[in-house]
Amino acid sequence: MAKIALLGHGVVGTGVVNILSSKAEQLEKLAGEKLELKYVLVRHDYDVDYKEKFVMDFATIENDEEVDVVVEAIGGTNPAYNYVKAALEKGKHVVTSNKELVAKHGFELMNIAKEKNVNLMFEGAVGGAIPVIHGVRNCLEANTVNSVAGILNGTTNYILTKMIEEKQSFDIALKRAQELGYAEADPSADVDGIDTCRKICILADIIYGNHIMPENVHTEGIRNVRIEDVDTLKTIGGCIKLLGVAKRTEDKKMYIVTAPHAVFNNGILFAANDVFNAAQLETDNAGTMAFYGRGAGSLPTGSAVVNDIVECVKSTGTVYPVWGAEKPEMVADYKKFAQQFYVSTNDTAEKVAAAFGEVQLVAVGEETAFITEKMTQEQLEEKLAGFNVKSVLRVL
Ligand code: HSE
Repeated sequence: MAKIALLGHGVVGTGVVNILSSKAEQLEKLAGEKLELKYVLVRHDYDVDYKEKFVMDFATIENDEEVDVVVEAIGGTNPAYNYVKAALEKGKHVVTSNKELVAKHGFELMNIAKEKNVNLMFEGAVGGAIPVIHGVRNCLEANTVNSVAGILNGTTNYILTKMIEEKQSFDIALKRAQELGYAEADPSADVDGIDTCRKICILADIIYGNHIMPENVHTEGIRNVRIEDVDTLKTIGGCIKLLGVAKRTEDKKMYIVTAPHAVFNNGILFAANDVFNAAQLETDNAGTMAFYGRGAGSLPTGSAVVNDIVECVKSTGTVYPVWGAEKPEMVADYKKFAQQFYVSTNDTAEKVAAAFGEVQLVAVGEETAFITEKMTQEQLEEKLAGFNVKSVLRVL
């Protein structure tokens, strides 16, 4: 029998409890032994029918040699970091859905796991239910992954969908996302792109093999997305999505950003709405590949976490390689990466033509909207000096 201790009993924690109970027989077969939830670490006592498992001090879990797998579902780094580190040092497997923890401390924690011959697994940290971590870690060894672009935050995709499709206000859509258990405790982590940034860093860590700190990644959220631009882009089959993007550059660095992008009706990133997440990869041998599914919520995230628990129980030691230490010089200056931009200004089409030459004009009227040729952000900013710019979006 494998004994499990769950830290945290919020949205993800309750999803894990439910799945461990509702799928007990199936999980026993797959894991090769029964999975018993021994402890749930909570901050205070309340009534549930398994409240005999509640404990309020982590030491009980840390010092119980029977506990094989610690599931961290607290979120944030304090106290999660100390608890996870202590559990690994005691030789316990750790499963977490905590993207902040993995994005900041993944390198160090995975090394401890390796030393102790246990696993740190974190499928639920990126893309909720979608097995994108397993996909990029296990299934693409015969490839070089040249780029990954993803809708990696359910809350903001839900908000954008509701604002665009149902004309809901930002505040109402956010409130509903909170009620549905999608949003972070502090939803500015969602809205300002911080959560997406952590997740694209984790994917990039795996794909490119070195730890990338989120603070080195240019990050924009959705607060400045304008419905006028959504309407304009719609006329040419486009829409706006908050994406995390990481691409290899010609000088062997990595371009990595989180920002709203104009995407077009030619793939999964355009089609993924509501709480759904999607990640699209360009690889050399396998070609284009995509992952798609529910990116947040109790049972979808719980599903990824429980799968990791089974994998830990089945494992006879550390399963996955550890990515390398941080190399900040690997991150390219995002302003020097050439790409197309969507621009809307209060200036005339003639002025646009004079500065940019031939462009794809999308709207002419009160605002002139256009899509540039490929250029760097530095070049774009030079050309736009003297313009009355309403918005600029990267084009995927
Ligand atoms: N707040 C996150 C999201 C939860 O909306 O995607 C899942 O990581």
